[in-house]
Amino acid sequence: MAVLVTGPIDPDQQRVGDEALVEVFASARGLADPNPFYRTLREQSPVHISGFGGTVFSRYDDCRAILRDNRFGNGEGGPDRAFGSIDPETLAYRREMEARRRERPLSMLALDPPDHTRQRGLVSRAFTPRRIEGLRDRIAELVDERLDELAGAGTGDAMALLAEPLPVSVIAEMLGVPETDWPEIRSLVSDLVQSLEPSASVDELQLSEAAANDLFDYFAGLVAVRRAEPRDDLISALIEARDDHDMLDEGEILAVANLLFAAGAETTTNLIGNGLNALFNHRDQLERLWADPSLVPTAVDEILRFDSPVQLDGRTCLEDAEACGVHFSRGDRLLTLLGAANRDPDHFEDPETFDVGRRGEPVMSFGSGIHYCLGANLARVEGQEVFAGLIRRFATIEPAGDRAYRKRLVLRGLEQCPVTVVSR
Ligand code: HEM
Repeated sequence: MAVLVTGPIDPDQQRVGDEALVEVFASARGLADPNPFYRTLREQSPVHISGFGGTVFSRYDDCRAILRDNRFGNGEGGPDRAFGSIDPETLAYRREMEARRRERPLSMLALDPPDHTRQRGLVSRAFTPRRIEGLRDRIAELVDERLDELAGAGTGDAMALLAEPLPVSVIAEMLGVPETDWPEIRSLVSDLVQSLEPSASVDELQLSEAAANDLFDYFAGLVAVRRAEPRDDLISALIEARDDHDMLDEGEILAVANLLFAAGAETTTNLIGNGLNALFNHRDQLERLWADPSLVPTAVDEILRFDSPVQLDGRTCLEDAEACGVHFSRGDRLLTLLGAANRDPDHFEDPETFDVGRRGEPVMSFGSGIHYCLGANLARVEGQEVFAGLIRRFATIEPAGDRAYRKRLVLRGLEQCPVTVVSR
């Protein structure tokens, strides 16, 4: 159990922190805007040993320190489930599902060193910044295809037409999935990612597991084809990725392919949706960006900071350890609130202001340390091409209806984003 190095926990401080957490995780106000509650945590209980189980970090320096400390890892379970509104039956089902998942080859996200180091090293070689930059023109074409549809209709849901399909198409194309299979893959991916939420129901977990199995089968077929006849795609590169002693085995290739969809789809979808939302809520910044498209790269990073697509990251204590003034025991859960770290005034001047020209410290949205997002460059290029494409194609883009957030805790994003566009 986590205990403060300095002595007993102050009950008032714990109550204030836990009340803020309940708002963040379980109230309509918190869903609409968690930031006032993040602020309470940062200011009043920054290293918060919660009565719900788990220790919660909300300041930038603490989140970074925990994520960079390999005494805390991912190898012994997924993100903390204690804060979801989970009934015992769902929790039991999730544990069974997790046990089944762990019988299969695991992806790097669920591994600790040395296994993590080895797999990430081999995958990074096939996932270089150069390869990603080389994809930029093609990503711009894929964006244009999506924008054609929106331009034709003049109005529509930007989530369904653009933000949801684009990231899946990009990863599918990178991996070498033939375009005729994209619709099937997209629907499997949307089922797959449901289990990322701590509050997923048994039905959603079952759908997710079935989708993971179907994706494994699909990629097993594709790997066989590429082994016989390699192409210039990521599946062929993963088959080829090796160092002097080592290469990825078949199971690992399938686990990595599934991970790339799970980690890269909804996150990037929400970067696009949360970006539109922030711009609609800050008209001056929308107009500034449309008038000066050279601001697109800083705007994308500001969107990532201001409304982080991934709000929290979790670790499990792998060995007894002292950090940030707390003694942790093996098995303790730690939660880093990335969205709160991104509004820490010690790191971002005037953090509540949305400023598309902001420059400064790196955002915490991609995590930190050994699990730092492998797809960060790709996500940025996708975001940049989307907003550059929107500015190029449309003289104006206006909100055209309700933009409620999904009832989600980890991956924060819009349910829908109706827009009206006027082509140039
Ligand atoms: C805006 C979009 C994205 C955000 C906010 C995001 C965020 C994150 C975060 C916070 C982590 C760290 C997880 C941890 O510490 O346990 C992570 C890991 C990862 N992400 Fe992303 N991600 C995004 C897009 C992508 C894309 C497009 C891909 C690839 C197609 C990708 C692939 C990965 C992989 C492979 C890992 C695991 C790295 C490891 O365990 O070493 N992500 N991402």
